[in-house]
Amino acid sequence: MPISQRTQVGIVGAGPAGLVLSHLLHLQGIDSVVIENRSREYSEQRVRAGVLEQGTVDLLTEMGGGERMKKEGLVHYGIELRFGGKGHRIDFQELTGGKGITIYAQHEVLKDLNNARSAAGGQTIFEAENVSVHNLNTSHPKIRYEKDGGAHEVICDFIAGCDGFHGICRPSIPPGVIVEYEREYPFGWLGILAQAPPSSEELIYTYHDRGFALLSMRSPQISRLYLQCAPDENIDDWSDERIWQELQIRLSSPGWALTEGAILQKGVTGMRSFVAEPMQYGRLFLAGDSAHIVPPTGAKGLNLAVADVRVLARALAHFYSTGSQSLLDEYSAKCLRRVWKVQRFSWWMTSMLHRFPDENPFDQRRQLAELDYVTSSRAAAKSLAENYVGLPLE
Ligand code: PHB
Repeated sequence: MPISQRTQVGIVGAGPAGLVLSHLLHLQGIDSVVIENRSREYSEQRVRAGVLEQGTVDLLTEMGGGERMKKEGLVHYGIELRFGGKGHRIDFQELTGGKGITIYAQHEVLKDLNNARSAAGGQTIFEAENVSVHNLNTSHPKIRYEKDGGAHEVICDFIAGCDGFHGICRPSIPPGVIVEYEREYPFGWLGILAQAPPSSEELIYTYHDRGFALLSMRSPQISRLYLQCAPDENIDDWSDERIWQELQIRLSSPGWALTEGAILQKGVTGMRSFVAEPMQYGRLFLAGDSAHIVPPTGAKGLNLAVADVRVLARALAHFYSTGSQSLLDEYSAKCLRRVWKVQRFSWWMTSMLHRFPDENPFDQRRQLAELDYVTSSRAAAKSLAENYVGLPLE
């Protein structure tokens, strides 16, 4: 017999979606248990996204535990679009009535959330093996897992599937329930973390004949840079020297220099757009990457995950205070309205800034016209800015 435990909301996955949800529920007096198959150390070290929308920053601050983010996060009020070797600033502050973004790494967010959960006596089970979900269509769904050789089960009122694109929750929904919309891109990003002071105060998104490049950062000492590459690019083909050479070419601009430094980490990521509809089956609610993936060009993945669980936490709180399922029933449709707008934006940024293997000269001229338009029309720049800083939360 498995060791059995009872909770109100069982959460699969201790990424940003799972931990934010768990803490939001705790603040409303709702009990949850988070089950994660990786170790705490792994998730707190893995380099992922780094751009937080204002709404994400506000939510993390309201939840408590945002002190380090306030201190160490870098607040930016614009980005640069660079093409034809020239930079054009998109001024978020002026175009959005004072809004900006904060550069603060996802793994730092996770450290803060794990600490906040521990301080509140929260239960997160790391390194859980063979995690599975059951009885989704009943009022007591359950999560099973193994840990240190023993079998466990958590009996819940609801389960939140926050276990990412490759997680077990979405595939546990019977066939025919979910429609998946997907688009793969014929390129990837080669990303590096470098011991080098960022060569620009703000992010630089570059369109170049040889492909997209991005200058980002993690701190005043650490740069984060990306290069468009083949989706199956072999990282072993890229010596540090070759990476810097290519970045120098793509980012070059008269009177500007890219500072190099020791490469601390490098890797290749594929790019896809993906949406699963609906984001619910019975008492299982999908949130974050388990329900949708955006290509990283708009820096939206983490922010979208946080927006989902904000809606879910409210709906669950409404259920526990009134007994009404009405907000839970609206969860999927409400999230998907935002999800599709963010999909549109991420696809648009990706399409505008990358070279496509099957493009013809017309496409390339059109991309350049798009960049010219977005950097010379206030209306177009405003549209980019309002999406980049984050569409309003409901
Ligand atoms: C990052 O810093 O990792 C980053 C920034 C902006 C993006 C994507 C990734 O659009």
